[in-house]
Amino acid sequence: MVSRGQVQVAGGIRTPEPIPPMPVGEITPKGYTGSVSTEPTTGPGAPPRADHPLLDVEDLHVSVDGTPILRGVDLAVRSGSVHALMGPNGSGKSTLAKVLLGHPGYEITAGTIRFKGEDVTHWPTDVRGKAGMFLAFQDPESIGGVPVIQFLRQALSARRGIDISVLEVRLEMMEWMEKLGMDPSFGERHLNEGFSGGEKKRNEILQLALMDPELAVLDETDSGLDVDALRVVARGVRTVRETRPDLGVLIITHYQRMLDELAPDRVHVLMDGTVVAEGGPELAHRLEVEGFDAWRP
Ligand SMILES: Nc1ncnc2c1ncn2[C@@H]1O[C@H](COP(=O)(O)OP(=O)(O)OP(=O)(O)O)[C@@H](O)[C@H]1O
Ligand SMILES: [Mg+2]
Repeated sequence: MVSRGQVQVAGGIRTPEPIPPMPVGEITPKGYTGSVSTEPTTGPGAPPRADHPLLDVEDLHVSVDGTPILRGVDLAVRSGSVHALMGPNGSGKSTLAKVLLGHPGYEITAGTIRFKGEDVTHWPTDVRGKAGMFLAFQDPESIGGVPVIQFLRQALSARRGIDISVLEVRLEMMEWMEKLGMDPSFGERHLNEGFSGGEKKRNEILQLALMDPELAVLDETDSGLDVDALRVVARGVRTVRETRPDLGVLIITHYQRMLDELAPDRVHVLMDGTVVAEGGPELAHRLEVEGFDAWRP
């Protein structure tokens, strides 16, 4: 899944870099040959234009080792709205989430991913992250030797394009950790190492809050959470939305309880690598009662 020398973390796949320094202030990393517009109104960091969705996935086909997994996915997420992506185990939800953030282990064989109107299909993960795309992983990876605070400092410096001090990160972190009911000692612990399932998920939301993305993809951020932790996580997402009302959220979940908390505007159903149904919140309720049988061949 993750290539040698790379680690999988919330916000994407990244190759560990020395801490510090982190190259900051540049939009396009070294070695990036894709097309990033230099127009101030387009490219990473540009505001979404009103005439197209924040995220627009069109006829996306993805394979792993020659085996097709996504077979023509169409899905659009609008600024300021919450979309739910549901579907049976193995239908391709996490694959879509990872491909949205440019995971190198998956081959896009056809189709396009547009973010704020830009074709990002072949953009590297870090450029997508800087542009405002964020992924909270279903199974966040542990990274030994990297304290949470250092990781966040690197990620935030890259996202904001300025070198942020440990003190600044600590202040921002403390505020959010309190909101998320996290112990302040978390910042000094190594990323996800020995974290309980619930602690990992809170840590993902902490990253979401600090990174201040424009699109957040939350892959089963509710799984493994007790009822209280689920409310804390949902409240965290709601608070992030309050501070950034144009945030687009794509929640991947199997459970109605997260959707009760976050009230999706649209629900998409993925089966066997394609979106087979799309509708309002009532679609999630129908799934809870009827299951996926209505869409099985
Ligand atoms: N790197 C990989 N190598 C081989 N097969 C893979 C890989 N990634 C995904 N798959 C396969 O693709 C299919 C879709 O997997 P995916 O993790 O996207 O499903 P999902 O919808 O997220 O399921 P769940 O609800 O269980 O999380 C599965 O059959 C899985 O085994
Ligand atoms: Mg999954």
